[in-house]
Amino acid sequence: QQQLPKAKAKVADIHTHMYPPEYVKVLESRNTIPLVRKFPTASDPRLVLLEAEVPLLESAQQDPSLLPGRPLTKHFSSLDQKIHFMDTHSIDISVISLANPWLDFLPSDQAAPSATSINSSFSSMCATHPGRLYFFAALPLTAPPSDLLASITSIASLPYCRGVILGTSGLGSGLDDPALLPIFTALAEANLPIFLHPHYGLPNSVFGPRSAAGEYGHVLPLALGFPMETTIAVARMFLAGVFDAVPKLSMILAHSGGTLPFLAGRIESCIVHDGALVKRMKEGGKRRSLWEVLRSQVYLDAVIYGEVGLKAAVEASGSSDRLMFGTDHPFFPPVGGEKGEEDGEWESVGLNVKAVVKAMGDGVEYEGVMGGMRSGF
Ligand code: URA
Ligand code: ZN
Repeated sequence: QQQLPKAKAKVADIHTHMYPPEYVKVLESRNTIPLVRKFPTASDPRLVLLEAEVPLLESAQQDPSLLPGRPLTKHFSSLDQKIHFMDTHSIDISVISLANPWLDFLPSDQAAPSATSINSSFSSMCATHPGRLYFFAALPLTAPPSDLLASITSIASLPYCRGVILGTSGLGSGLDDPALLPIFTALAEANLPIFLHPHYGLPNSVFGPRSAAGEYGHVLPLALGFPMETTIAVARMFLAGVFDAVPKLSMILAHSGGTLPFLAGRIESCIVHDGALVKRMKEGGKRRSLWEVLRSQVYLDAVIYGEVGLKAAVEASGSSDRLMFGTDHPFFPPVGGEKGEEDGEWESVGLNVKAVVKAMGDGVEYEGVMGGMRSGF
């Protein structure tokens, strides 16, 4: 078992998900992803979320020896299990969020009532553990624009809400869609940061037939598809001038900003060498560089599992104050196969904490990333 360093200040996990039971019910009723399906060869139903999991979902009808998705364990819906996980890993505070793909797939007329119900479930869960739980609300992105705006007003009044979780699809055309500007403005005015989280990844063709056949598990879509999706979404927002149009907008980027800390220089160089683009981006005054935006409007989580990635994240965001610990629970459970193993310490958490210690040392910077500087949640 991993021996986790004990932080003296409070530890806050800002990247930790749940699917409330009513959301699981919706998934159980579906025939296309996202869905929950039972297979005779497995005790837990399977939670199938990603496009990359569809080939195995189809082949498992004939041959269920390789099952799609991941087991839907009690960790996804049980609040007791979340608290147990927090206690096991010395986590004082969790900012819980609905996991992907949130409400993105709902028909327009169902989105707003579902968001109200899901956000109210999260509020009630937080109220049962005051001071330990907060949440990022889900937005009804497919609802009519007036309902979407109204949902932001109501979310802002929920006492445990600390922001919203958002995927990269926006209203269907991505986050550089001008139609999203009123939404971003409303969020900024309400002081609600966006926790940006990937779901759609990259097309399966990029990963090749051996990945589709299940040979590489989830490695390519999760380790590479997810971070590239985040990188592209934020680059598009930057190129479209969203950060200048809504200067009070704050974003927390999942997985330490995807590959933005590594690629920001190259993005900047490509802009600087495109005369027309530079001209357009300078309209209305001086152009802010991606580095400047990263250092003023962007926070990064520390869910990157490596010292090098964390150091890049600190450099890119300008300060370890802008980096926040996360676990991604209930994803990445231990896979040793021992009974009750999921109730113990998770290797994924240990790996991440160790990476933070290696990158930050074990002093105030470590405490800060782990949540200590932000105990005023
Ligand atoms: N896989 C997902 O689908 N979502 C996560 O948040 C992590 C892994
Ligand atoms: Zn996540």
